[in-house]
Amino acid sequence: MIHILVGTNRKDSRSAELAEIIRPLYEAQGQAIKIMNVGDVGLEELNNESYGEGQKPAKLQAAVEELLTSDGLVVICPEYNGSMPGALKYFIDHWKYPDSFEFRPVAFIGLGGMFGGLRPVEHLQQVFGYRNSFIYPERVFLHNVWGILKEGQIDHDMNNQLLEKQAQGFCRFIKALKSENLHAAGQSHPK
Ligand SMILES: Cc1cc2nc3c(=O)[nH]c(=O)nc-3n(C[C@H](O)[C@H](O)[C@H](O)COP(=O)(O)O)c2cc1C
Repeated sequence: MIHILVGTNRKDSRSAELAEIIRPLYEAQGQAIKIMNVGDVGLEELNNESYGEGQKPAKLQAAVEELLTSDGLVVICPEYNGSMPGALKYFIDHWKYPDSFEFRPVAFIGLGGMFGGLRPVEHLQQVFGYRNSFIYPERVFLHNVWGILKEGQIDHDMNNQLLEKQAQGFCRFIKALKSENLHAAGQSHPK
């Protein structure tokens, strides 16, 4: 199962719209897909005792455990104030450490104005690098996203091609890591 993570809890976000747009690109590669939205993991129920081994609300516990079984994660991340949305980082800060995303593949799509979410994606690369993930090198940045994302479609040929190429490449990346037993889901991966 590949998880597509909508990296904001903003109501009716473009990130959520984009998740539905890319879903069929992954399904076309024969992958089972689940969209996980940061707005639906129960962050509003968190308290300051939920970090680490602390008690987590049931919804969050389920999401955190599910990610431990993921074959790969595609993070869709909008730019908020030059970085990732705080809600996304808050969610990541409740993942099981160090297991979550160690030796698991992750790909990134940025959304924003002039820089298309380059800054938050680079910040996320640092975070996932810290977590020992396998970062897929081809990232996609949707510049001036409000001008190109319309009625559930991306009105921009080059971006559509880049998203399709990323989906194909990321699926091959996952397969390659599994076939060499490097993926955390493998029997004898090096972790
Ligand atoms: C709180 C907030 C802060 C933002 N800050 C930036 C920013 O620093 N740079 C930028 O290019 N766009 C910024 N934007 C624009 C968003 O990146 C853009 O509207 C994007 O579509 C938002 O994604 P969402 O619809 O998934 O929330 C900001 C939007 C919000 C809501």
